Amino acid sequence: MGSGLLNVSFPRVDGELRAGSFPLAELVERFGTPLYVYHLEQIEERYKAFGHAFREVDHVVAYSVKANGNLAILHRLGQLGAGADIVSLGELYRARRAGIPPERIFYAGVGKTEEELREGLKAGIYAFNVESRGELERLDVVAESMGEVAPFAIRVNPDILSPTPHEYTRTGHAETKFGVPVEEAFELYDWARGRTHLCARGIDVHIGSQILDPLPYFDALSRVVGMVPRLREAGDELDFVDIGGGFGIPYDGESRLIIEDLARVILPVVRGTGLRLVLEPGRYIVGEAGVLLTRVEYLKQVGTKWFVIVDGGMSELIRPSHYGGYHAIEPVVMPSPRDIEVVDVVGPICESGDFLARDRSLELPEPGDLLAVRTAGAYGFAMASNYNARRRPAEVLVEGDRLHMVRRRETIEDLVRGETIPWEVPGEGGAEES
Ligand SMILES: Cc1ncc(COP(=O)(O)O)c(C=O)c1O
Repeated sequence: MGSGLLNVSFPRVDGELRAGSFPLAELVERFGTPLYVYHLEQIEERYKAFGHAFREVDHVVAYSVKANGNLAILHRLGQLGAGADIVSLGELYRARRAGIPPERIFYAGVGKTEEELREGLKAGIYAFNVESRGELERLDVVAESMGEVAPFAIRVNPDILSPTPHEYTRTGHAETKFGVPVEEAFELYDWARGRTHLCARGIDVHIGSQILDPLPYFDALSRVVGMVPRLREAGDELDFVDIGGGFGIPYDGESRLIIEDLARVILPVVRGTGLRLVLEPGRYIVGEAGVLLTRVEYLKQVGTKWFVIVDGGMSELIRPSHYGGYHAIEPVVMPSPRDIEVVDVVGPICESGDFLARDRSLELPEPGDLLAVRTAGAYGFAMASNYNARRRPAEVLVEGDRLHMVRRRETIEDLVRGETIPWEVPGEGGAEES
């Protein structure tokens, strides 16, 4: 189950999983389950790996906020020099609220609304990564109405079928909604050159997620960097190339994408272009630095099949049901040896798709046991929902020998905040809020 590296943030000491000096079981006593626990040192280490590997070129690590947008994590990454890859007004707010300066913010996404373009411009972000002709035209109109010049890059779809574990995480081939084909990208840059409120600042590509091989990045980058001389000749003063994110990590014992290897492969393409390199890692920075802790409620045997029913499910970690994502699961406190059974670890949600693991060989836990679901720092809380009127869990950050609750568990009242019953007579509606 996994490589040794898997256990760096949450090692097992005397049979108990820990986060730094804190036994995870102790954190559960204080904060309950389900619970996300993050390890700050590992987050920092992962961020710094990029700086070290790419030190010879001007670069920005624009952390992909969608992976885990907790303010404390964003703040620390911002302090270390990170920028942000954002896709919504909410992520813009998070990044700015965490102190990430606008000149390190890149705005991606296929469906930017007029309001989002306006707010991005108002904030003074570094560039919009534009994904269609309609978006570029809208950006032009919005910029003109504000008397601004909008900096942009075109997200190029290089038509590369990237080797990701699930089709939903492939974004670099012709049939996806992302980016525009090479020839259309040239047309868009040509069109924008005649517009006084648009300014081409870079070129962008993102080919997918959980990619373990550096070569697809080489192919994609070569393709977009190859477009640059023609654009410069036509008059565009481009200053960055954005290679996107998707750098793979070991969910199932595979070896991670080594950032030094990635640098070795792509630096020759960037070197000499005078372009600043933008990288947008998400899961690489936070994935392994997080666990989801959950408690076993019941065991259920149906025929020969065992179900381990736990108090966290697809509402806390949707990757298994949405992408078929694998997450290692292990006891927080190693029990005395038990029978190994093939089990489904399932949540309490009323969906057959609510599972954290399927057909997994586990020492059969008992009700009350705590399980740690590993590699849940990315796309765990970020994709969490209130489905079945569940309260989203607390998030705890371990920083050396300090412990911070960086988000409290939602309350029952949080679940109805903002809702009204229009015909309710004030004072008659039970426990009403003012
Ligand atoms: C444009 C873009 N950049 C970066 C990322 C981050 O991906 P990952 O968390 O796999 O690094 C994504 C993921 O969807 C993305 O769409």
